[in-house]
Amino acid sequence: MSAIVWNRMKHDVKVKLLNEQHQKLFGTLKELYTAMEDKSDKPALLHIINNLSLYVKQHLETEEALLEKYNYPGLEEQREQHRLFVSKIDEFKTEFENNRFMLYFDIAIFLKTWIANHIEETDKKYADFLNSHNVF
Ligand SMILES: [Fe+2]
Ligand SMILES: [Fe+2]
Repeated sequence: MSAIVWNRMKHDVKVKLLNEQHQKLFGTLKELYTAMEDKSDKPALLHIINNLSLYVKQHLETEEALLEKYNYPGLEEQREQHRLFVSKIDEFKTEFENNRFMLYFDIAIFLKTWIANHIEETDKKYADFLNSHNVF
């Protein structure tokens, strides 16, 4: 798997707060992945998954509120992708809580790939738009 690390070349959305939130998501994913590698126990993994879910939701709310404030034309595309991702994380949490999920690493890779791709392909499109409204 490619490194779980925020990379300015790939992920810079030119808005400080949103970059910081994205970095926090990468940091938490890295924590999750490391805990899985270390075969941490279920409560420890669940704790990280809950944090990740919380940080994702906080971030998506912040991002959507900011895009809404300035009438960003791609807001619906953002909302749609965010909704799908939130339901995926919730599903993962439930599976994990019920011991039904065995493919932890697959899920960690899915989450990482989704976040990285979403930032690169969708979030970066709002960078210049927000800068043009003096949001940096
Ligand atoms: Fe987004
Ligand atoms: Fe984002």
